[in-house]
Order: sequence, then C-alpha cells, then structure tokens
Amino acid sequence: KSNLKGKHLLTLADLNSDEILQLIEDAVQLKKMQKEGKPHSYLSGKTLAMIFEKSSTRTRVSFEVGMNQLGGHALFLSRTDIQLGRGETVSDTAKVLSRYVDGIMIRAHEHSGVEELAANSTVPVINALTDDFHPCQVLADLLTLYEVKGELKGNKLAYVGDGNNMAHSLMIGCAKTGVHCSIASPKGYEPNPSIVELALEIAQETGAKIVVTNQPEEAVANADAVYTDVWASMGWEDEQEVRLQAFQGYQVNKELMSYAKEDAIFLHCLPAKRGQEVSAEVIDGPQSLVFEEAENRLHAQKALMVALMG
Ligand code: CP
Ligand code: NVA
Repeated sequence: KSNLKGKHLLTLADLNSDEILQLIEDAVQLKKMQKEGKPHSYLSGKTLAMIFEKSSTRTRVSFEVGMNQLGGHALFLSRTDIQLGRGETVSDTAKVLSRYVDGIMIRAHEHSGVEELAANSTVPVINALTDDFHPCQVLADLLTLYEVKGELKGNKLAYVGDGNNMAHSLMIGCAKTGVHCSIASPKGYEPNPSIVELALEIAQETGAKIVVTNQPEEAVANADAVYTDVWASMGWEDEQEVRLQAFQGYQVNKELMSYAKEDAIFLHCLPAKRGQEVSAEVIDGPQSLVFEEAENRLHAQKALMVALMG
C-alpha cells in the first residue's frame, strides 16, 4: 500500500510517521504472504544494485533474498571491485548505475558520500548503514516491537551502549512512531548532539519522550524493549581495547534487565559480542528476540523496496 516513488531512504527522517507505520503494516502482510507461500512478484523485472564498502551478513542476504522473492534481481557490488574503488567519482557512479538499475542500496563509511550518491541518482537510494545511520535495521526493529506489543506508540525502548549509528536511527525511528526512547552511553560516547536535537524536534509531534543519560539503570527503568549494539563498530576496531574499559558497567545482563518491565524484550541488531555489550544469558535467554528481529530485516526491506521501486 505504501507509495514512496521517487524518494530515497537515507534516514528515517526522510519519511513521515504515517509512511513508517504503513511500511510496517505492509511488512506484516508481505511476511504473511511469504509464510503462506503466496506469490508476491511486485518487483518482477527490476534490479537492485548493492554497493558494499563494509562487511555484512544480514543486510546483504536479506536484500538479495528479498529482491528474489519479489521477482526481481540483486547485484552484489563490492566497492573495491567496481571502479569507485579506483577513484571513479560517486556522482559518475550514481549516474551510470541509474541507467541500468531500478534502485541502489549502499553500505558505506561516510554518510555524506551516500547523500552525494542520492543527489546524483535518478533511482531510489537506500542507506544500508553508514557511520551515522542504519534506518533499514530500525524498520525491522519497529516491526518486531509492533508484532509483540500490538502497537508502537507509548512503548519505551532503552538503548544501552555506544552513541553510534544504531542509537541515532533508533532515536529517530522511535520519535517518528511515538515510542519513548532512552539512550544510556558512557561519557565521551554519547550520540551526536545534532541528531539528538533532530529526534527531540520530531518527538514533539508524536509525544515520544527522548532521553539521553549516562545511567544505564535510569534508561532501562520500566522499558518494554532493551537494545544494545557492539562497543566498537565497523571502522572503530582499533579502539576495541580502550572501549572495553570505557564501557564497563554498560553490559546488558540479567541484573540490568531486572530494571525493565517483566515482559520486556531484548533486541540487538547483530553481530553481537557475548560477554561484552550483552551477557550470553540475556541474548540466548527467553526475553531475546534477536533472530526474529534479524528475520524481520527481510520483510521490512521487501516492504520498503516495493514502496520505493514498485
Ligand atoms: N544488522 C546488520 O546490519 O547486520 P550485517 O552487518 O550482517 O548486515
Ligand atoms: N554499529 C554497528 C552495527 C552493525 C550492524 C556497526 O556499525 O558496525
């Protein structure tokens, strides 16, 4: 039902609340159709180019399988294999790919590079993770929360950990859908203040409460969902040792989960490091929905691709 023709998805701020909620509804329908084996070739004959500058398991496979299930085709393009890696400009790459394909998905370090790609592309560009944002992941996260709770508005999501791309996209996605969002990060690892500002602005329209704190227990108090992510993201591996020290006390374990609601769910975008940001007991325990969440990448992105490229 969604129609986002002619749009790009660089961050969830590109969509209004209704558009996000409709995508989630569409994802529920597409998931049902796939489970029941009903054909849904809404992108028959269409091609998605997928440019990867960083590693990926879920994103690569879910986009490729998603295109396949929708009757289309996906091309895996490693940045180093295409001429972009030898210095061809982003804008020339965008203009050339636009002549061949119906959509471009990109995972890159710099968000500004993805903005430049979108500015020069005549087909929809989907951000599949940059250093600053991961909107496709949050579509799947919201879908997961929606499936469990029956609605989004009024729930509380607590994110404990690095103020990274996940923290940023969760704040925006929650603000847009009326989900209260508390972020707890150590000093020096808080989310980008200008993105917090943007989330606060968006939240005024939906009544979502956005809180940034250095206290994990405060963030998790009474939460419906507790979320975490690795302490050293792709590109920050060199800081692994320093971060291990800085993030002491920020592990999501049974003790911290006890501050959340009794029926709270645990989410993680994956890949995870057990014993660092989350204890094995929590991520492999009964409150964890991390594999449902990973599966939902497929369904949420299928809804997104149909809306953008259908
Ligand atoms: N969550 C996520 O984006 O995983 P990948 O890095 O495996 O794509
Ligand atoms: N914050 C993590 C997310 C991985 C899906 C990273 O950027 O590496």
